[in-house]
Amino acid sequence: LNKKEVEITFVRASGERIKTKGKVGDSLLDVVVNNDVDLDGFGACEGTLTCSTCHLIFSKKVFDSLPEKATDEELDMLDLAYELKDTSRLGCQIILSEKLDGLEVKVPATINDQRSS
Ligand code: FES
Repeated sequence: LNKKEVEITFVRASGERIKTKGKVGDSLLDVVVNNDVDLDGFGACEGTLTCSTCHLIFSKKVFDSLPEKATDEELDMLDLAYELKDTSRLGCQIILSEKLDGLEVKVPATINDQRSS
């Protein structure tokens, strides 16, 4: 099965843009890991919803178009994230679809790892 590639750009608080590629079915956490994106502490719990280090901020348009809304577990974790916005989600819970090709997501300046506090 040849999975389609989609292009994802991570935008740091500094404005630096990091272009990556992911495959349909990957999570945004997979994209960070597979592309070796240098985001300190990102994805600390490896997608098990026990940290909030994979916090990403979406545009309103994309946020509203995401097929899966956040579960209560995700919302609980998001509550602990720094710089929480109305359009925040946890990257490990966002699964790539072809529709997300060209996606731009903002990486918050600070990462809060619950496991170390
Ligand atoms: Fe920990 Fe997403 S990687 S909640």
